Amino acid sequence: MNQDQLKQMVGEAARDEVLKLPAGQVLGVGTGSTANCFIDALAPHKDHFAGTVSSSNATTERLLKHGFQVLDPNDVVSLPAYVDGADEINPAGYMIKGGGGALTREKVIASMAQQFICICDSSKQVPVLGNFALPVEIIPLARGAVTRELDKLGGKVTLRLAKSTRADLGQTPSEPFVTDNGGWILDVAGLQIADPVKMESIINQIAGVITVGLFAKEKANILLVSNSAGVERIVF
Ligand code: A5P
Repeated sequence: MNQDQLKQMVGEAARDEVLKLPAGQVLGVGTGSTANCFIDALAPHKDHFAGTVSSSNATTERLLKHGFQVLDPNDVVSLPAYVDGADEINPAGYMIKGGGGALTREKVIASMAQQFICICDSSKQVPVLGNFALPVEIIPLARGAVTRELDKLGGKVTLRLAKSTRADLGQTPSEPFVTDNGGWILDVAGLQIADPVKMESIINQIAGVITVGLFAKEKANILLVSNSAGVERIVF
């Protein structure tokens, strides 16, 4: 079974999971290739939900294409669940996210939700977070200052450049990648994050940081993880 099939399988498992929620509520929807599989699987059942709140412009576009209602998060007071992928998840449900650059809105929507349902294939499960470079969204003018602070943590800091996937937004590979919020992203490689709660708090306190892609306070409550044997459901 290839990785696309594993993503599709877990997307379908997440659809079955959220359809157990009482009808007529609002659902939080994440960003990335696994979240896309979930959106596609849920599309035929969209009327089960009063609407969705979206974690990125890309997800909004996909939801609208399928005919979902996409609500302004400011108009939503109750969100039973948020479904999203992860770049890494450890055995306690702490995650690194932001490989797709949507970390800030993802964290905001996750913070509004009663439960975070993480969906991924088993390649994302790690004993210790940090093999995947940690994304940190920043205000562009703070790049130098934040880089110097992040250097002190011992990792290698790189400014993320635009990829061809953002060509639709007019971003070319030699320019900084620009988030949906107008921020830039510093990727910090080579960290071994033994204490995600402490690391999240340290990085959050650096002036100029918008969001760190460490989801410790907003950790997963449920993990649906696929491998060639099927989908496992883990409750943290
Ligand atoms: C988007 O910014 C990320 O947080 C994604 O949720 C994460 O990178 C997982 O993406 P994939 O499902 O594409 O691996």
